[in-house]
Amino acid sequence: MSILDTIRARRSVRTFDGIDLYSGDLEKIEECAKGADNPYGQLIEWRILSADEGLSSPVIVGAQRFIAGKMRRAEHAEEAFGYSFEKIVLLCETLGVGTTIIAGTMDRGAFERAMELKSGEVMPCMSPLGYPAKKMSIREGMMRTGIKADSRLDFGEIFFDGAFDKPLSDGGAIKDALEAVRLAPSAVNKQPWRVVLDGSAAHFYIKHARGYGAGTGWDMQKIDLGIALCHFELAMREKGFEPRFELADPGIKTPEGVDYIASFRW
Ligand SMILES: Cc1cc2nc3c(=O)[nH]c(=O)nc-3n(C[C@H](O)[C@H](O)[C@H](O)COP(=O)(O)O)c2cc1C
Repeated sequence: MSILDTIRARRSVRTFDGIDLYSGDLEKIEECAKGADNPYGQLIEWRILSADEGLSSPVIVGAQRFIAGKMRRAEHAEEAFGYSFEKIVLLCETLGVGTTIIAGTMDRGAFERAMELKSGEVMPCMSPLGYPAKKMSIREGMMRTGIKADSRLDFGEIFFDGAFDKPLSDGGAIKDALEAVRLAPSAVNKQPWRVVLDGSAAHFYIKHARGYGAGTGWDMQKIDLGIALCHFELAMREKGFEPRFELADPGIKTPEGVDYIASFRW
């Protein structure tokens, strides 16, 4: 299965069949988590936790395991976290293991205790791990409809040709990598990524929605950007490109509420 096929097949799974992970799958996920690096070079400690430790989420049914990550607060920590987490999520998809990255709807205190969070550390998100039930719970179906989880913004709304006032009509040779970005999961399906193509460079920006960074000192939408960067890089590599990551704002004029995040050059 190609990366783009895996990305196309993935959806958040909130209803599981109640069976624990097979040991072979557990080992593969543990191994992937150990090697799940990110272009920011930030270390993230992943732990696979058992629901028996008193862990739950009001939107998740039938999961026996969860995976959560913790790291030190630092600049770009959110993007790094999203990037690494998505590598694990995509590996799970290839194993038939369902996931949902969850930042909000969980018993956060219980997860932070299970992760033995120390001062200066954060645990932004966790995900259940398990085998999808044959049928979604009514609640999951309603949630998906409520946040229009199956729809994505159009190509021309999020990708631009050199400047934000020029919607991109055709991604050419990197069309699949852009499609991989477009299909990424995001908090409340807000899809905050914007990409400006400039020759053989893709500059990633965040379009802030109100209320996602307030209070916690932690910007949830930057996790979404990390996921988008991961999809882009993996899809580019699969097509034979060698994208180089860089943090160098190209100075392109941005609309209000839009900020530079990172670039790839190839
Ligand atoms: C950073 C982040 C945080 C999320 N937090 C939650 C959450 O708290 N509860 C939840 O049910 N889903 C959460 N989601 C899942 C999104 O709602 C989901 O990805 C989006 O609606 C698109 O649906 P899909 O993943 O099925 O494509 C989160 C996703 C991301 C990337």
